[in-house]
Amino acid sequence: MSVAPRRGWWVLILGFPLLALLLAVGGVLIGAQGGFEALRVPKGAESQPLATDAATVARGKYLATLGNCVTCHSTRSSEPLAGGRAFPAEFGVLYSSNITPDMETGIGRWTTAQFRHAMKHGVGPNGLLYPAFPFQNFQHLETADVDAIFAWLKQQPAVASTPPSNTLSAPASWRGALLAWRMLFHRPQPLREVPGQGEAWNRGRYLVEGLGHCDMCHGERAAYGSLSRETHLSGSRIPGQGWYAPALNSQALARWDIDSLATYLRTGTASHGGAYGPMAEVIYSSLQHLSSGDAEAIATYITSLPPPRIVPSQRDALRLGPVVRARSLAGGPVTALYQRHCADCHGDDGRGRDGIYPPLAGNPGVMAADPVNLIRVTLFGAAAPVTAGNPAPHTMPPFIDQLGEDDLVALLNHVRGSWGNDASAITHSQLRAVRSLPLD
Ligand code: HEC
Ligand code: HEC
Ligand code: HEC
Repeated sequence: MSVAPRRGWWVLILGFPLLALLLAVGGVLIGAQGGFEALRVPKGAESQPLATDAATVARGKYLATLGNCVTCHSTRSSEPLAGGRAFPAEFGVLYSSNITPDMETGIGRWTTAQFRHAMKHGVGPNGLLYPAFPFQNFQHLETADVDAIFAWLKQQPAVASTPPSNTLSAPASWRGALLAWRMLFHRPQPLREVPGQGEAWNRGRYLVEGLGHCDMCHGERAAYGSLSRETHLSGSRIPGQGWYAPALNSQALARWDIDSLATYLRTGTASHGGAYGPMAEVIYSSLQHLSSGDAEAIATYITSLPPPRIVPSQRDALRLGPVVRARSLAGGPVTALYQRHCADCHGDDGRGRDGIYPPLAGNPGVMAADPVNLIRVTLFGAAAPVTAGNPAPHTMPPFIDQLGEDDLVALLNHVRGSWGNDASAITHSQLRAVRSLPLD
């Protein structure tokens, strides 16, 4: 008897179970990301009638505003919805699509079924879509709401415009590779009403987890841009931008009541402070248009969320070891600096003034473990958005040209360590890192 056939048997005996195992794992992962169903884009002629009456279109406009479609699908110089906004990612830059009804460069040829599929599954006629498109949030939308958005989109001017090509490196540049990403990270989850919670809470959850996609900024990302359930709304440095979006939960928002939080969302300002940076943009372009009921619903939901078991600052502390408290570095001549440059508006006692100038004492933004917002606002100034409810916001002046590095570090540590504030000290290198951030 020769040896070869025996080796052949071994290949079969070992190979079959291995192949079966690979197929089984692959099958389970395909199932986990939504099954073959999610990957199969509806083809062919329009089969779903779409209501386009004025009331539906108006509702679609309201919903599209809350979903911020225009902001992500436009640049400063482009026509609205014509796409081309750049999204810096780990592997290069991705550009948003033209979603005007243009037949060639937009989504004019899409059927209602195809639009529903793209919003629900993140797979459109042009292939698998990158998660920079918040389909992981939009999957929660009710079909009637998706259709209303589509009805509104179809009424917008068609713009012939092709966004720049993505500059992603392989394998991220290959849309097919998104299947692997989906198998590892995308878990479709229906958002069922929780009967024990009231109507406002359920509505708030629908808006926050769905259209509002708040976790795209307020939740820390896990590997390759995926949103993680463990760090859901637990606060995060926004990828590609030098801003920190704080945690949204009952503990982090303890100083707000539902009314003042709803006012903040609709006007960009409240007695605890004004919005600035990316949050000012979100309020300006989207949230200021919230109905008062929806603003209260959002406030009801986010103030009810339990704090995460381990907050990112604790995790950082575990990683970095003991930190220097700001209080130990402040003191002496720095009080005079504060008096001269900040006290007029923020008060000698750091309590702010007249509900116009926000308090620095007890302010989580000031004490955040990640001090990027505090440093950034002090260097470059800040302004709440201009909204119907706050047409002439007060602004915070920039100090980058008035104060040297040593003074700035001492002053910020004074602010982080006075009036009961007890945050970690910031360092010269943190200040320099923020100073060299791109301003946009
Ligand atoms: C946070 C930014 C962001 C928001 C908000 C956003 N989009 Fe997008 N969208 C993108 C990006 C980026 C792409 C491109 C994804 C890709 O190329 O895979 C995209 C792609 C799409 C596509 C696929 C287009 C095609 O040609 O395949 C559709 C449809 C779409 N978005 C609709 C919407 C609608 C409707 C809204 C509002 C409810 C919206 N988007 C809000 C970033 C966004
Ligand atoms: C002319 C008045 C004025 C002066 C002087 C001023 N600020 Fe402000 N500051 C403001 C206003 C108004 C805001 C709210 C901005 C907004 O709503 O976006 C603000 C916001 C802030 C915030 C953000 C607070 C938050 O809620 O997160 C910080 C931090 C801050 N100021 C620190 C300082 C420091 C430090 C100084 C001194 C170096 C200073 N400010 C001087 C008016 C002032
Ligand atoms: C584009 C990124 C981005 C998105 C999307 C976003 N936020 Fe924010 N948000 C921020 C940043 C950055 C801050 C910190 C700056 C500030 O306080 O204005 C912030 C601050 C806030 C604050 C103030 C927290 C505090 O303790 O002072 C609230 C409340 C808030 N966001 C709620 C929301 C809700 C609700 C949504 C979704 C409907 C949302 N945000 C969507 C970036 C974002």
